[in-house]
Amino acid sequence: MIGDARRVLIPRSQIAERVRELGARIASDLQSLSAATGESVVRWDDTGSPEPVDPGAEVVMIPILTGALVFTADLIRAIPLRMSIHTVAVSSYPGAATQSVGATIRGDVPRGLTGKHVIVVDDILDTGRTLAAIRDAILEQRPASLKICVLLRKERRRDSEVEADYVGFDIPDAFVVGYGLDFDGLYRNLPEILSLEEAEG
Ligand code: IMP
Ligand code: MG
Repeated sequence: MIGDARRVLIPRSQIAERVRELGARIASDLQSLSAATGESVVRWDDTGSPEPVDPGAEVVMIPILTGALVFTADLIRAIPLRMSIHTVAVSSYPGAATQSVGATIRGDVPRGLTGKHVIVVDDILDTGRTLAAIRDAILEQRPASLKICVLLRKERRRDSEVEADYVGFDIPDAFVVGYGLDFDGLYRNLPEILSLEEAEG
């Protein structure tokens, strides 16, 4: 990144607003889903309780490490339902690469997802390989439902066929950092999303 210009693509206020919207939509969809199967998901903001109440239906969020860390931290606090969180680690951009070399699941895929409402969360849908690999591994376990939520979706051809159910922002095919996204392991803690541009001269 040294020698490159950085441009703010999405300011933090816009991210915060969109994350709140996504959280509200996910919560409302989960409630409809569980009502359809006779389960009851109780919102803690409906009960006046500071604690999420026993939902009946189990909701499991699966953030993909490390990029989804920051997004997930904000998103789950915008979903006022009782849920558990199980992370999964995937690496696709070794070192200072800005082109994906294919997704490798590192470690175990969360188990015990049969009959549960699963939401996979990632920072960005790029080639689609990461989410396709995780999706297929989870579907083998026959969850009650599986949804994919990404903060960003790049406008480009996907190498693996995968659709996101919830998308924060569609962005052009440029390399971005911040709000969890890294370049060579750095810049994840920048509060806004920036695109890298080659410096002139
Ligand atoms: P995919 O498997 O090609 O869809 O890549 C998804 C993963 O690659 C994401 O979870 C990110 O970790 C990483 N990635 C893709 N595009 C970018 C980018 O522009 N900046 C930083 N990381 C990216
Ligand atoms: Mg990632």
